[in-house]
Amino acid sequence: MRKQIAAANWKMNLTLAEGEKLIKDIISAAPELGAGREAVFAVPFPYLINVGNLLKGVANAHVASQNLAATNNGAFTGEVSGAMLQSIGMKYAVIGHSERREYYHESNEILTEKVNRAMEHNIHPIFCCGEPLSIRENGSQNTYVNSQLKESIFHLEPQQMKGFVIAYEPIWAIGTGKTATSGQAEDMHLHIRSLIENKYGADVAGSVSILYGGSVKAANAKEIFSKPNVDGGLVGGASLNAMEFCEIMKSLK
Ligand code: PGA
Repeated sequence: MRKQIAAANWKMNLTLAEGEKLIKDIISAAPELGAGREAVFAVPFPYLINVGNLLKGVANAHVASQNLAATNNGAFTGEVSGAMLQSIGMKYAVIGHSERREYYHESNEILTEKVNRAMEHNIHPIFCCGEPLSIRENGSQNTYVNSQLKESIFHLEPQQMKGFVIAYEPIWAIGTGKTATSGQAEDMHLHIRSLIENKYGADVAGSVSILYGGSVKAANAKEIFSKPNVDGGLVGGASLNAMEFCEIMKSLK
């Protein structure tokens, strides 16, 4: 059975003290996550070690970086490499979030490199894809997402794709309060899984966790996660509130 994941994406929010309080509040109220379910916290780089330490001993909870450099160590001021993240025990890295694609010009080609650097350092990508509103409105979202996957992750070997994590985040639903319906999410997740099945076979496709992201909150998580091809969520705004995020964790299948 593939993993069900509630992933928090703090983006560029919270001071260290606020972040530590949030994690402590979540730990004290969160449901126990058994095998096959995980909570992941993508926190700003300076907090990774502290938050990782707070999560030590909490079953199936991990920190994640929100980004990772496309290049290895060297003269790249301001970047954080896969080797650095590996050296502090990073399990996951969010790669290709739409905000990085849009504001930092991360193309599908650059994201291929980022995925490769993560895999070389035993860091599991949480690879984000998803279409802007104009693409949804002209109905070509399946083709659009297909290119994102084909150009950035479909070079991977089958054993690398096994257990891979993808987050489908329609851009028009991020931070807008406008969630895709559970039916829209399921349609796209099914499309993504069939693309993987065509390339890698049913066994690999069935092992890939596909998270939905875009205005997930306590009030809609259960309905969205109940769909057969939705394996949890990548949560921005609502992950900054302990009670909201705990409810979202409880909504995992
Ligand atoms: P949101 O963000 O939950 O605030 O819409 C989701 C994301 O960007 O990962």
